[in-house]
Amino acid sequence: MKTKCLFPVAGYGTRFLPATKAMPKEMLPILNKPLIQYGVEEAAAAGLTDICFVTGRTKRAIEDHFDISFELEASIGGTKKEEFLSGIRSLINSCTFSYTRQLQMLGLGHAILTGKKIIGEEVFGVVLADDLCFGQTGDGVMTQMMQVYEKFQCSVVAVEEVADSEVSKFGIVSGEEIEDGIIRLDTMIEKPPLAEAPSRLGIIGRYVLTPDIFDILEYLEPGRNGEIQITDALMQQASEGRVLGYRFKGQRFDCGSVEGFVKATNYCFASS
Ligand code: G1P
Repeated sequence: MKTKCLFPVAGYGTRFLPATKAMPKEMLPILNKPLIQYGVEEAAAAGLTDICFVTGRTKRAIEDHFDISFELEASIGGTKKEEFLSGIRSLINSCTFSYTRQLQMLGLGHAILTGKKIIGEEVFGVVLADDLCFGQTGDGVMTQMMQVYEKFQCSVVAVEEVADSEVSKFGIVSGEEIEDGIIRLDTMIEKPPLAEAPSRLGIIGRYVLTPDIFDILEYLEPGRNGEIQITDALMQQASEGRVLGYRFKGQRFDCGSVEGFVKATNYCFASS
């Protein structure tokens, strides 16, 4: 069974200070729903209903969000306002939630490795909630990626073309397109300077990982910016032909930046 999805949520959210001084960036709302809820809904829709948060100090509001608020239930239960809780209630009822703390911020690879005990020996999804994704066809991006995994049985990363000016902000990949939109990756470089980028295909914050990734992460040296990089661990799998890049069908907003956040808000408002 593939039911687990890991959410690294320990990051500080410095680009949203002072809003994120005492509040997790993942709780910033797009319209009336926090970013993290969009990510959890996407995972649950893909059948990944065991939600594992790799969390940190100042992130307790996330735990409270995915729990019952007795005071709220008591005060608005039975009134018309109750309907505002129906979405989060049914999400809570259809998922389990586990939490483990990343004690030091040593990179995305380190955050994922922190989830090893909760994930165990299973294939699992990873969602970076900052990357807000909407599927084009009704299927969310994680659902699309699990379909690719089912067919090829190896790690899958979501990719899309990025602008030259953005290349140094992403993991950049290249390889051979083996099917429409599916690329067998042979090169993966974390945040390269433009001149060293093997393509303009950037990794977006959605991954399906085979559990041997933990064995690789455990012995991985720090990479770009002195951090343990998931891109470097994946490159080891890619050197054996075991990573696919998937050009997802849909739209992605970088909600880690104020500009992307505003675009996502406008997009959601227009389609609400
Ligand atoms: C991380 C990954 C990077 C990926 C990006 C997607 O970087 O390390 O490879 O392209 O997420 O959002 P971060 O943005 O966390 O620095």
